[in-house]
Amino acid sequence: MTGGAGFIGSHLADRLLRDGHDVVVIDNESTGRRANVPLGVRYLKGDVRDIGELERAFTGGLDAVCHIAGQVSLALSFHDPVVDLRTNTEATVKVLQLCVKHRVGRLLYASSMTAYGRTETLPIPETTPCQPISYYGITKYAAERYVHTTAERIDLGFDFHVTSFRMNNVYGPRQALDNPYQGVLGIFLGNLLRGEAITIFGDGEQSRDFVYIDDVVDAWSRALATTATYDRVFNLGSGCRLSINRLADHVLAAFGRSRTAAMVRYVPARSGEQREVEADISTVRQALGWQPTTSFETGLARTCRWARGAA
Ligand code: UD1
Repeated sequence: MTGGAGFIGSHLADRLLRDGHDVVVIDNESTGRRANVPLGVRYLKGDVRDIGELERAFTGGLDAVCHIAGQVSLALSFHDPVVDLRTNTEATVKVLQLCVKHRVGRLLYASSMTAYGRTETLPIPETTPCQPISYYGITKYAAERYVHTTAERIDLGFDFHVTSFRMNNVYGPRQALDNPYQGVLGIFLGNLLRGEAITIFGDGEQSRDFVYIDDVVDAWSRALATTATYDRVFNLGSGCRLSINRLADHVLAAFGRSRTAAMVRYVPARSGEQREVEADISTVRQALGWQPTTSFETGLARTCRWARGAA
């Protein structure tokens, strides 16, 4: 697994160990933390952009690769597009080259809902044309196309099956509380724990689909075990939409704070942002017999409890 010291990757590593898999993790600890990596994993510190470092994870033989490592911030993709391109697209190409070289028959890829860009239909089905509107969305979608185009090659000489999950806004314990580029819920929780005001970009009426981490890793775990996901792309979300204003209200309420002008400040919107996001999850439900089981209220309460202990 790439990115296994990060928020999503470390939870997936926990789950795969529980499922009885042997797990190898490679992570450069740029945002991930060694402390997140569960005992029992074979851990390598290394950068997925460096094919030599990456190949160390392939020695010994792998049955499947879960490729999660990536640059996750839309804002940073505009600030440093080359780093974004190298981390999200070029590194994925290197993962694919190594899967081909070492004949690894299975790859699960962490794609993104940002691939869709501006959409007219809500909830958004997988059949929606992808027209990303941020550099980040472009690099994640380009990588997704590399993944599926590689699996379709007829010259590989072995069966290579891939699955992409277009992930929504994943939240839960271990998400960053102190990184302004990593996930709005963690940012808001960190703000309140440090006694800072919350900052909302734009009018706050943009919406996102917040999906709890345990539900996400449950889908990944099920996908590994079934051929029904071979060579397919799935949205992975809760199927519900929440505006950033409502999110702020929930977080303030969880801390017993009321919404005052001093607590919530509004600054101009950022470039390349989708307005409304809500995943159509009917396809993934059907293919995996999966459904999100953690309500936003429950997930938020668990995340707040963890954040109070972690801060
Ligand atoms: C997030 C993920 C991205 C994933 C995508 C899928 C992060 C950092 N990014 O992008 O990897 O592919 O979902 O949909 O987790 N906001 C504020 N104030 C803040 C921070 C954010 O108002 O202090 C707003 C943003 O303007 C945005 C919304 O909250 O409208 C969500 O932002 P963010 O959590 O950064 O994630 P996405 O850009 O949706």
